[in-house]
Amino acid sequence: MSVFESEGQPMMRAVVMRGHGGPQALHYEQLPVPAVSAGQVLVRVHGAGVNPVDWKIRDGFGYPWLDRPDPGILGFDLSGIVQAVGPEVRRFTVGQSVYGCTSLRRNGAYAEYVVVPESELAHKPASIDFVDAAAVPTVGLTAWRGLFDLAHLAAGQRVLVHGAAGGVGSMAVQLAKWAGAHVTGVASGRNEQYCRGLGADDYIDYTAVAFEEAGYRDFDVVIDTIGGDYKIRSLAVLKKGGILVAMIDPLKHEIAEKHGVRTGMVKVHPDGSRLEKITQLIEQGALKVHVQAVLPLSQFAQAHELSQSGRTRGKIVLVPDALWQPPIMSEQAVRA
Ligand SMILES: NC(=O)c1ccc[n+]([C@@H]2O[C@H](COP(=O)([O-])OP(=O)(O)OC[C@H]3O[C@@H](n4cnc5c(N)ncnc54)[C@H](OP(=O)(O)O)[C@@H]3O)[C@@H](O)[C@H]2O)c1
Repeated sequence: MSVFESEGQPMMRAVVMRGHGGPQALHYEQLPVPAVSAGQVLVRVHGAGVNPVDWKIRDGFGYPWLDRPDPGILGFDLSGIVQAVGPEVRRFTVGQSVYGCTSLRRNGAYAEYVVVPESELAHKPASIDFVDAAAVPTVGLTAWRGLFDLAHLAAGQRVLVHGAAGGVGSMAVQLAKWAGAHVTGVASGRNEQYCRGLGADDYIDYTAVAFEEAGYRDFDVVIDTIGGDYKIRSLAVLKKGGILVAMIDPLKHEIAEKHGVRTGMVKVHPDGSRLEKITQLIEQGALKVHVQAVLPLSQFAQAHELSQSGRTRGKIVLVPDALWQPPIMSEQAVRA
């Protein structure tokens, strides 16, 4: 079942985090393949999506209240093939292709195998490959939660998406369009064509003009993936009764009330059944996935460096070295 065995024990390669800090806290090692318990699925990983929360946890975010295994394995987005199922697993059988986002409190998918509760998995969309599937779960669920659970977005409303070219922003632009909203994307000039291709009706290049001075106002919903002073500055472009949806740090409710707007903070959590809905949208062609870089798992440090640059267009995905293939030139050109 695994790539190799040691003294009869199936072993796997994994990126293990010991303590916190820079990429030196991460080690490419051999570990036993984890065992499945009731309600759990063992997945042979084909793709592990990289999210900013990976390097934030590596740097110390959530320590000590985020009760994580130590040493532990990062990488909460995964795609792969079901290798084994525990007792009481109902929705999946061995050999099926799955994807999902698993809890920050458990070991993740920077490994050749990962154990995931059945409730956190969905069937992989057949129309996309494992790499693209690994790029979807966290950002898809986050954008969905912000737009529909918190903002209750309706057709015809106006949405502004900060960070429109990033992982969450790319999904938010597309989901808002699918819901019939008018979408304004904000990112740097080099990403205008990309964001318009996702469906953005209007575009603000924040490197050319401050977004609140670009002439676009009266938004029903602002999606803030940037944080810092963006929360306060965004009040200027929200209409009365509109909502600021924060992804990084919340706006104080008293401040929102004073300005006659609402606010909410997204806390994404794994949700296999909602991911099945996202699967349907992908199959219908309503949601596209853009992966900027596909790297072998052993190059985790480079993947974190890229993500930490804050310039990612779409997503970065790690693939176990045994499954990784160098991109051919034409594919590289498409993904760039
Ligand atoms: N609360 C939650 O549950 C939750 C869930 C998921 C993510 N998050 C957080 O949300 C944030 C965004 O996540 P992500 O995965 O979308 O990150 P990401 O993919 O790394 O975002 C990178 C994108 O941000 C754009 N950007 C950078 N500075 C910008 C600015 N000042 N204005 C507009 N766009 C800017 C960049 O475009 P340019 O290169 O054009 O500048 C780039 O395309 C992260 O901090 C993440 O941890 C929170």
